[in-house]
Formats: sequence, structure tokens, C-alpha cells
Amino acid sequence: NIINVKEKFRPQFHFSPKSNWMNDPNGMVYFDGEYHLFYQYHPFGTTWGPMHWGHAVSKDLIYWDHLPIALTPDEHGAIFSGSAVVDWNDSTGFFNGGSGLVAIFTHADQYPGSNRPRQRQSLAYSTDQGRTWNKYEGNPVLVEESITDFRDPKVFWHEETKIWIMILSAGNHVRFYTSHNLKTWNFTSEFGTEVGSHAGVWECPDLFKLPVDGNNHNNKWVMVVSIGDESTYAEGSRTQYFIGDFDGSTFANENSDETVLWLDHGRDNYAGVTWSDIPTEDGRRIFIGWMSNWKYANETPTLAWRSAMTLPRELTLKKTFDGVRLFQTPVAELEKIRQEKYTWNNLMLLPNENIVSDVSGNQLEIIAEFEPHSSTEFGIKIRKSDSEETIIGYNAVENFLFVNRVNSGVTDFNEYFPCKHGALLSAKNKGVKLQIFVDSSSVEIFANEGELVITDQIFPDPASKGIELYTKDGEVELISLDIFQVDSIYKS
Ligand code: FRU
Repeated sequence: NIINVKEKFRPQFHFSPKSNWMNDPNGMVYFDGEYHLFYQYHPFGTTWGPMHWGHAVSKDLIYWDHLPIALTPDEHGAIFSGSAVVDWNDSTGFFNGGSGLVAIFTHADQYPGSNRPRQRQSLAYSTDQGRTWNKYEGNPVLVEESITDFRDPKVFWHEETKIWIMILSAGNHVRFYTSHNLKTWNFTSEFGTEVGSHAGVWECPDLFKLPVDGNNHNNKWVMVVSIGDESTYAEGSRTQYFIGDFDGSTFANENSDETVLWLDHGRDNYAGVTWSDIPTEDGRRIFIGWMSNWKYANETPTLAWRSAMTLPRELTLKKTFDGVRLFQTPVAELEKIRQEKYTWNNLMLLPNENIVSDVSGNQLEIIAEFEPHSSTEFGIKIRKSDSEETIIGYNAVENFLFVNRVNSGVTDFNEYFPCKHGALLSAKNKGVKLQIFVDSSSVEIFANEGELVITDQIFPDPASKGIELYTKDGEVELISLDIFQVDSIYKS
């Protein structure tokens, strides 16, 4: 069961399953020197089906060891999304006074004698670093019969009130529960019915505290909520976030109810959540998302497997002109797969000349800093051939950063896939700094130190390797440009 890394479109430095279908990342937890990544997995096909938890571990978030399936469906149903924690002080009694991993997930089946979906929360635990799992005999541990969509529990330890907190999605809102032992849960509050985007069902919430501008005396809470696909919205499934305060029982949103904050302005970053139990010495809040969209996830043109995860990203909070906002940057570990580097500095770019025509590649990291001058639009075209290109562009008149994947390669599997989309960059900055990761079937753009992120799948021909720097109508100053070839994470 070796991964076929030569398959067409196989990501070379993103996590993807060896074979078959994957969706949400689940149960991400750091324990005993390993980052665990579980994921929604259908081992018997390349489309969504009865859900299992697939499993992989990594020491550095870059190279992954694929492990056997961790959780399989049972008498309570399939295993939907959820989280995992280290039970350091054996609050569950599962670990004989020691510590170990507990997964908290949704059991999904149907009410007996009906086809109404039933979603209940359950536990499993591992006493061997996540290698084998036991389902708790008291499952399910949290049932709310009146709520139909009731899933994706994210559990964390709330140090201030010394209690376990569960946030989970319930159709059009999230709910909070607390517990001393992860087995009995008490409802405390709900949030969201009138707030943010309701363009789809709420799913996969996360909640965590971050310092603002690195100042540990000024912390805020970030709530991440994914919203599912609705046929009326071309964007499909996407992820929003809220910023505010959490006192252990209720969340207070600091922005207006109407404010919608998108975590990513591309089409392919869904159901993302963050790692639990990253050591305080490290201190990072690390996020990974599912790099697909329910709009077309089951139709993407790969054969033996479907979907990949985004690159792991560090989340931070920064004050901006509009208020405190979530920033995302690729984890520093990614620097170790940088290969050959090409550099340019302090150049004026003119229309119709391409200074990077000598460089090409299917796995690239590009770091570019521009200053617009008289250009109305400039940017970088990647995965280019005579007939294909993906454009990462900046409309300098409107401050609009975009990806255009209309001619990016195979796009005809779904009418919503070929598209151009993006968002406004804060006009406060004179220059535009882009960090771009290109892989076999994706592009990720981190603009102005992570203020704005665009994550998109693309399916170019492997022969489309060209790069072009372009400007329209006038000149743009290239302050600096570094292009790195990026190594494959698979040893051949
Ligand atoms: C999100 C989601 C979750 C659910 C899982 C099922 O993509 O719909 O709400 O638990 O996928 O696979």
C-alpha cells in the first residue's frame, strides 16, 4: 500500500490520502513529539461515503506517516468530524492515573425506523499514542434529540475556569457545553443565529485564544465556523470567523452582527480547525483546512484519491485599520523543503516583457514585493503553457487581489469551478507583498504578511510549467522577487 506519487495531480508537498476519498481534517492534536492528523475518510471509494477517521502523524507538519484507519463505523453509526485532546490528568479515568488521547466525535446514523438523521457525540481513547483506539462503552455521551444537525464537537481545556469546553455546530448556530470528565456534558449557551453569514449550515467550529500583536496582556478569542454549500451561492462552502471574548460559558462577538469575516477568499479551504495541545514553549496556533469545496468536491479530476489538505498555517491576531483581524502565514517548517532559489531586486517592469521566462516549475514558492506606480493591474501567471494559465493578479485601481482559474487546466467537471475571485487588500499599504505556493493541483496566496489568503485547487497539465510576471497599462516596481523550487515530500 505505497502512495503513488507519480499520479497525475498528486500533491507533492500537501497532505493527501494514499487512496480514496478524504474530507475534513479531524482530531488534530500534538502529543509526545507527534502532530496527529485524522481526517474524514471513505476507504472504499473516491466519493463521500460511510465515514471513518483516517490517520497520519508527523514530527514537523511536512513529512507524514500514513497510519491505519483509527475509527470505523459501529452500531451507533458512521464517524463524522470531531476533535482530540490530551487528557493530561486522567479526568476520564481511561488512563489509570496517567495521560492519553481522547477523541470526541459525532456518531451519525438515523433514528430507528425513520430516515431522519441522528447525530450524537461520542468518545474514543488511545493508550498507545493514537496507534489503536477504544470506543467508550458509554457512547453516545451527548444527545439532543430535538436538533437535527448537531455535530463536529471541538473540545478544549479552559484554564481560567478549569473545565472542559465543547463547542459544536447545531444547524444555524453553535452551542457550548462544559464537562469535568468528558463523559457528562452540561449545556451553557448558544451563539450565532442572528450573526455572521448563514449562507449554509454551520459546521466544524473551533474556538481559541490569541494575543493581539503578540501582546499576552491583550488576548482575544477567535471562533472559526465553516458554512456548507447552498445551491444559491456560487462560492459553495467556506469558512468565516468571529472575534470577541469567551468567559467559559458564553461568547461575546466584538464586531457588529452583520460583519462577515472570511478566513480565506479562495474557493478551497473548508472545515479547517486548529491543533490542540501544542506545547506552550512553541506557543503557535496551527490551522489546516480541507482544500476542496462541497460544490464540486466529489467531481474533481483525480483518479485513485480525492482531495488534499491546505498547507499548515500559523494563525495570529493583528490590529488593522478595520479592527483586530486574523492573519495566516505558512508554518516556518516549510522553509526546509525549499530548493534552488532565483532572485531579482529593484526592477521596473514594463508591459509585454517577462523577466522570469527562464524559470519554470510545478512546485514553487514565490515571494514577491511590488509597488504599483502607473500599472493598473499586475501579477504572476503560473502553471502556464500556450493554452493554460492560472493568474494571480492585483487590480491596482481597486486594490483587488484575485485568482483567475478560468483557463487553469481541467475545469469542466463543474460549472462553478472555472472562475475569477478575490478580495480587497487594505489600501493602507503602498506595496503588495505576495507569498505564493504552487503545487501539482493547488495554489495558495498569502498577501501582505497573511492579511488576506486565497486558496484554490487547479488541475493544470503537468507540462504547463511556465511562469510569467505581467503588468498592464504602465509600469510596476518589483522591489524583490524570490522563487524557490520546492522539494517533494515523498522520497523516491
Ligand atoms: C463538513 C462536514 C461535517 C461532517 C462531515 C461529514 O465538511 O459536513 O459537518 O461532520 O463533513 O463527513
